[in-house]
Order: sequence, then C-alpha cells, then structure tokens
Amino acid sequence: MISLQELEELYDAYVDTFRGGDGVLPPMMRLKREHTGHVVANARAIAAGEGFDGVTARVCEAAALLHDTGRYEQLRRYNTFRDSDSVDHAVFSRDIVVEKGWLDTCIGAGAQGSEDMPHSAADIRNAILVAVLVHNRRDVPDNLDPLTSAAVHTVRDADKLDIFRVLEHQISTTDWRHDCQAFWNLPVFAPPSPAVLDAIRADRPVDYQNIKTLADFVLIQVGWMICGLRYPTSRRLCAERGHLEFRRSFLHRLTDDPSVDELCAKADTFRT
Ligand SMILES: [Fe+2]
Repeated sequence: MISLQELEELYDAYVDTFRGGDGVLPPMMRLKREHTGHVVANARAIAAGEGFDGVTARVCEAAALLHDTGRYEQLRRYNTFRDSDSVDHAVFSRDIVVEKGWLDTCIGAGAQGSEDMPHSAADIRNAILVAVLVHNRRDVPDNLDPLTSAAVHTVRDADKLDIFRVLEHQISTTDWRHDCQAFWNLPVFAPPSPAVLDAIRADRPVDYQNIKTLADFVLIQVGWMICGLRYPTSRRLCAERGHLEFRRSFLHRLTDDPSVDELCAKADTFRT
C-alpha cells in the first residue's frame, strides 16, 4: 500500500525549502501548491466517480500530488513556467521524484502481489512515475497497463479541470483587457485562428504554436470539453462547475465570430 500522508509530508517539506527567509513561498509557487491541492481533490473525485479500487485511487492521488513537482525548481532556476524557454517540467518533475526517493519510502511492504494487493511495489511506482512524466504530453501511449492508464488519464483530467478554474480566476482577478501579460501577450479582441478551429472541428489536439489570439487560448479549453476529458466523471464535474457557460459568454466578449457558438454547442453535446 502507499502512504499518501507520508508522501504529502515529504512533498511539503520539499516545497518548504523554497520559502524565503520570512517563511513565505513566492506567490507563483504558492499558486502552484494551491493548484496541486485542487488537482489531488479532482483526482480523488474522479477515482470515486469511476469506482476505482482503493489501490488505484491512491496511485491516482499520489500521481496528482507529484505531477508538478518540478515547477518550484523550474521557477527558481529559470524564472519562468514556460517549458519552451527552460525545461520540460514533466520530465523535471519525474527526475526530482526519483532522485528524492519519496516513492521508495512511501510504497509499503503490503504491495507484494498478494490476492488483496494485485500490484507489486514496482508496478505502483512505475504507474505514478509514468503519470507524472506524460501529464503534459499531447499524445499518450495507448498500450499502458490498466493501473498506469488509470493514473495517467486521471491526472490529465484532474489537471485540465483545475486549469479551467485557474483561467476563470485569472479573468476575474486581472485587467485582462489591458494586462496582456496575463495571457501570453495575445491580441484580446480578435477572432479565432482557422488552424485552431480546424483542429477542434476535427477532434484533434491543438498545436500550441497555432495560438494567435486570446479566443484561440480559450477555445482550446472548449476543445478539451469535446475530446480531452477521458472519464464521464470528469465531464460531469466540468458540467456541474459551469466551465462551458463561462467560456461561451467570455468568448462573446472577445469576438462575434459564429464559430464560437458552433463549437460551444458541439461541446454541449459531450456533457454527462
Ligand atoms: Fe504540469
């Protein structure tokens, strides 16, 4: 079995090393720690909604806790969260988790392949590390064993669900009309780009290099609601939290392009 409490204590002791002399975590790091807490809660909700067994649920929560481990060191070393200007933060996260040896400490002797415990400690460790490693990838390998697959897709769904929350928080707390920095300096009042619309219409992931306007940025998340959430529980949580309605009305403030209603209507049909 895996001790989530012990793992969280080790994780938080690591995060504490990034606090300043006044004991305060830099604001961007504090936001990452809060994001991580939300992703763990989302992973727990998805595991419960999908009826995962106890071990699988714990593996999903552990992977959610660790998925952004590298963000703190990334910010300290490179002063950015932009992977293209620094490191792939998922690889960085996996490497730090391995180097710290947290999983060796927290995966107990109970996981020996008995009938009650169908997974070995090595299987559990591997599932968590793979989920951390591929959480930000456009494409995920499709030949994963069931435990790894559950961890991978739960973390990816849980992360997206919290990215929905973060966008809404940013919009409601920043002067997004004038503070272009909040959204990559993208043009604010501009229609979506054809390449983005084509990808979403074809149920394809959008290449980030095709993002040219703020509407593109928001529409990518509408695309996730069409084909980016793996589990019915994730789609239900998304619907309950009103994320599609928020994006539809926000997009109407940015552009009168009719594709907004077309794609939001398409996303509406994928609710559960
Ligand atoms: Fe991440």
